[in-house]
Amino acid sequence: MSETTCGGSYEECRITADWLLTQTQVRPTVGIVCGSGLSALAGMLKDQKVFKYSDIPNFLHSTVRGHAGQLVFGTLKGKPCVCMQGRFHLYEGHPIQKITMPMRVFKLMGVKTMIMTNAAGGLNQDYKVGDFMIIKDHINMPGFAGVNPLAGPNDDRFGVRFPCMSDAYDRELRQLAHDVAAELGYSDFVRDGVYCVLGGPNFETIAECRMLHRMGADAVGMSTIHEVIVARHAGMRCFAMSLITNRAVMDYDSQERANHDEVLETGRQRAKQMEVLVSTMVARLKDDQNDDANSDANNDRNKS
Ligand code: HPA
Repeated sequence: MSETTCGGSYEECRITADWLLTQTQVRPTVGIVCGSGLSALAGMLKDQKVFKYSDIPNFLHSTVRGHAGQLVFGTLKGKPCVCMQGRFHLYEGHPIQKITMPMRVFKLMGVKTMIMTNAAGGLNQDYKVGDFMIIKDHINMPGFAGVNPLAGPNDDRFGVRFPCMSDAYDRELRQLAHDVAAELGYSDFVRDGVYCVLGGPNFETIAECRMLHRMGADAVGMSTIHEVIVARHAGMRCFAMSLITNRAVMDYDSQERANHDEVLETGRQRAKQMEVLVSTMVARLKDDQNDDANSDANNDRNKS
């Protein structure tokens, strides 16, 4: 038995993965995580098999408004997929290993490529509400304080002790997103940027937003990065995209105040376009973009 005590152990993930695989014929190679207000994407899956999180062994329950809290299996444009309608967050009070456990379950079910979406506040002054930001890199603020899903004993069956993160966001998938966005006429509102994760649940102060912006972050949110770290550790390719739902308040004279209703409303307005972008990307995934290419490189690097 592994020494991990807070959740996400190999044995625990294996039980959950095996249970799910006995309940559905779908053998997903693509995993999708839907962020706040963006759950409708799961509705595009054909021949759905839906599991409430509360019915899945070892799974957490989602407590956030705008997050449905279910796992949807099916095919999207012919590709077998599994889709999280709602994710787990640090601010819900769960151990970070539990929050990210679905990534390990997906890995054990055969997922090769992860696509994550989230809602984020725009720090970059050029960003507008409703923009899509393709995440090219991240700043993991909780990680600076030792809050990292990989802290604790490493289980080599998932990945190496010291995984590389300079290639966390797959270059080919980002290029694919830009190509698809250009074809769909979305390029005017699609950006590339750096996402900074904080623990939440409060939105940031003005001083915090100013600091994050100076540090190099283009958008700020409360999710995704922990999932990316665990997915990359396990050798899955990652693509992540933010919907800019509000502009972070950077100015003491501003009357703007960030709030969750604004986040959900922007999600509703842009959700359809995000669905089209992601589903077209999934349709175009080539077999070699759906491959476990990076884990071997990681393993070799860390062995030497
Ligand atoms: N800050 C943090 N998380 C968020 C924001 C924000 O402004 N908007 C949506 N999620």
